Amino acid sequence: MKRIGLTVRAMRTISAIGATTGLLAAVAVATPAMAVEGNAEAAASKKSMCIGCHGIPGYKASFPEVYNVPYIAGQNAKYIEAALNAYKKGDRKHPTMRGIAETLTEQDIADLAAYYAQAK
Ligand code: HEC
Repeated sequence: MKRIGLTVRAMRTISAIGATTGLLAAVAVATPAMAVEGNAEAAASKKSMCIGCHGIPGYKASFPEVYNVPYIAGQNAKYIEAALNAYKKGDRKHPTMRGIAETLTEQDIADLAAYYAQAK
């Protein structure tokens, strides 16, 4: 009798774990679908680390050497987001942009993309 009681309890525990795991799996699957909303206003404090390069006349940075800096204002938000994620992941190799993108969260990227998409 005692044995059966234990088995039943063990089975209850196992099914409880199963239910929890299933729930966690559902949450994990649902997360990527909930896209991060970009907020242009939230980018106000974040863009200070971009304007040094992306906001200068002629769009050239002079350090460490003179190179062209792409004009990103008015660019499509999805494009900016994709570009920043590519630097972050290392698919795009530019060292400065990689260094910057690595410090940005998903939310930062969405906010900056929203900001630059509507900037002129
Ligand atoms: C030190 C100068 C510098 C800073 C600071 C900087 N960038 Fe860049 N950025 C560049 C350069 C140079 C490139 C071109 C890199 C390449 O050739 O891949 C670039 C490329 C990009 C691109 C891709 C543009 C395209 O047309 O594909 C995006 C988007 C971008 N930067 C966004 C940002 C954002 C947002 C910030 C601030 C968080 C920032 N950058 C800060 C220099 C800078």
